[in-house]
Amino acid sequence: MEMLSKVATLPFRRTLEEFDFAFQPSVKERQLRELAGCAFIERKENIIFLGPPGVGKSHLAVALALEALRRRHKVKFTTAAALVSSLAEAERIGTLNRRLAIFTAPALLIVDEIGCLPLDAHQVNLLFQVVSRRYEHGSIILTSNKSYAEWAEVFSGDAVIAAAILDRLLHHSTTIAIKGESYRLKDKKRAGLIEGRERKD
Ligand SMILES: Nc1ncnc2c1ncn2[C@@H]1O[C@H](COP(=O)(O)OP(=O)(O)OP(=O)(O)O)[C@@H](O)[C@H]1O
Ligand SMILES: [Mg+2]
Repeated sequence: MEMLSKVATLPFRRTLEEFDFAFQPSVKERQLRELAGCAFIERKENIIFLGPPGVGKSHLAVALALEALRRRHKVKFTTAAALVSSLAEAERIGTLNRRLAIFTAPALLIVDEIGCLPLDAHQVNLLFQVVSRRYEHGSIILTSNKSYAEWAEVFSGDAVIAAAILDRLLHHSTTIAIKGESYRLKDKKRAGLIEGRERKD
């Protein structure tokens, strides 16, 4: 268990119990409890959390990763940026296949923060290799602050590869679109320091 946790490289520890479902009504507690059973991993299905900053996408991804670890699944957490830079570095020194295995072998791969930084054509290609190798072989949990329609833009404007990646990801998947206020900013908003999201739109 300790070994599995170490290999998973989770950035922090947040559980489902720590998630305030009342604050984020667009997230259904029953659905998350069901996913926490990890049947999606047995079925090699994906989960995609979409939504603006601070709404709990990474928190929920980590909470599900902890449930998977509790059930002795092999898990690996990475961000999209770290994933492509790790693969590009391995490619440069001629160890791409070995490095790819780190991201394709675990039963559950979490790719956090798709869309935070744009990817160039080569980086998109590396991401595609991971998604296509995992397709129907292992689950991915992905988080993004961009809607699917905006992914082509993130993927260096390449609508063809964006479609190819989305097609594989979405074939067996659950999308959880989170709407609402940032949890990070809730106290500041309450204090009137910054405007609420709905007033900006
Ligand atoms: N409903 C919630 N209940 C309790 N804590 C929450 C909730 N939503 C978010 N948080 C906490 O707020 C912080 C921000 O959440 P998180 O990192 O999951 O946001 P995110 O959606 O991944 O944002 P970003 O797109 O900026 O990465 C974390 O510390 C998280 O634990
Ligand atoms: Mg996040």
